[in-house]
Amino acid sequence: MDLPDQRGFVIWFTGLSGAGKTTLAQKLKSRLERQGLNVYLLDGDVLRTGLNADLGFSPADRRENIRRAAEVARLLVEEGYCVLATFISPFHADRQKARQIIGAHRFKEVYLKCPIAICESRDVKGLYQKARAGLISDFTGIDSPYEVPDHPEVVIATDQLPVEEAVNKLYDELFDSNG
Ligand code: ADX
Repeated sequence: MDLPDQRGFVIWFTGLSGAGKTTLAQKLKSRLERQGLNVYLLDGDVLRTGLNADLGFSPADRRENIRRAAEVARLLVEEGYCVLATFISPFHADRQKARQIIGAHRFKEVYLKCPIAICESRDVKGLYQKARAGLISDFTGIDSPYEVPDHPEVVIATDQLPVEEAVNKLYDELFDSNG
């Protein structure tokens, strides 16, 4: 991809809960905004409180969750926004569909790679503990699968890099580092 400019694009973050999707997206958002871009952070947790509040975590509901997210992202992109989409999006077919809805030429998939043991030890929202205790079901990585992306544009191992280094690497791999 060229230097970031006012043409819209989507950076689609996928990875386990606790892999750092929202954290990295927030950092990247600040960086892109400092360059004058209009950035929208489209976050799974946020969408699930409103637009997608009727959906659960079955494969079919996740598919619909991702489809709606991709359609919203497309609307924003067509207005010139840089959309940072953060969804576990565990299924290959759903990520492919999102790429297709948005348009492959303006879609970059970023896989935040982090062993489940590390995500679980972070357990920012206490959900892994609940999933292990059987209080919630279909939890990604516990009793629901995560399909590792085959060909993401960028892979960041978030257990290996501090946040600032991770965002620098992400930026450099997404855009020309001259910018
Ligand atoms: S996705 O799989 O459909 O892409 P999405 O990213 O929207 O998921 O939502 C994931 C968030 O929902 C997690 O970060 C977590 O806070 C919450 N959550 C609640 N229940 C589950 C579950 N069973 N599996 C995964 N995440 C869950």
